[in-house]
Amino acid sequence: MDVLKAMETRFSTRDYTPEKLTEAELDTLLTAGLQAPTATNRQELHFTVLSGDAPVLFAIQEAMGTRKRPEKNFWYNAPTVIVISGETAFGWTAVDAGIAVENIALAAEALGLGNVILGCLKGAMLGEKRDEFAKALGFPEGYDFQIAVAVGRKAAGKEPHSFDREKQVTVL
Ligand SMILES: Cc1cc2nc3c(=O)[nH]c(=O)nc-3n(C[C@H](O)[C@H](O)[C@H](O)COP(=O)(O)O)c2cc1C
Repeated sequence: MDVLKAMETRFSTRDYTPEKLTEAELDTLLTAGLQAPTATNRQELHFTVLSGDAPVLFAIQEAMGTRKRPEKNFWYNAPTVIVISGETAFGWTAVDAGIAVENIALAAEALGLGNVILGCLKGAMLGEKRDEFAKALGFPEGYDFQIAVAVGRKAAGKEPHSFDREKQVTVL
């Protein structure tokens, strides 16, 4: 799929079938994350792949407390969750993680897979169980949670979001 088309059609999927990703699909997603540019080419990101039934996801969910959508877990039962951690002390880590996660989201869209970027676990990941979760997720030393993305096959659709060009763009 053309990258412009993927940007146009991508939306956050919040309902998945239980079908797992193939190895080739997962490899494509991880390669997309690894191909993302990083400031000074530091490559300070780490990608942890979890199956949607991984106990650590349920432990994170518990640490998150009350939820906006209590009827669903935060990864919407997606079969795969990719957690991106990054070097805490580097000044561009958050930006680089954002670029990498969008690369993964667009690659998923190009493969016809649903995905949703997940920031809602940030408080729990950086809270009192920070070290425990970092260890469970295999973060390298000195790395913290940055962002995550759930991926799987779409069980429901949604229109891409609308936007206000006048409000958000200034052309001088
Ligand atoms: C940094 C970031 C964090 C997000 N965190 C969550 C999240 O925790 N849970 C969720 O359901 N959606 C999350 N989203 C998805 C946004 O809600 C979604 O992108 C936005 O509503 C626009 O809708 P669209 O992606 O369908 O175009 C996140 C998106 C971004 C960019």
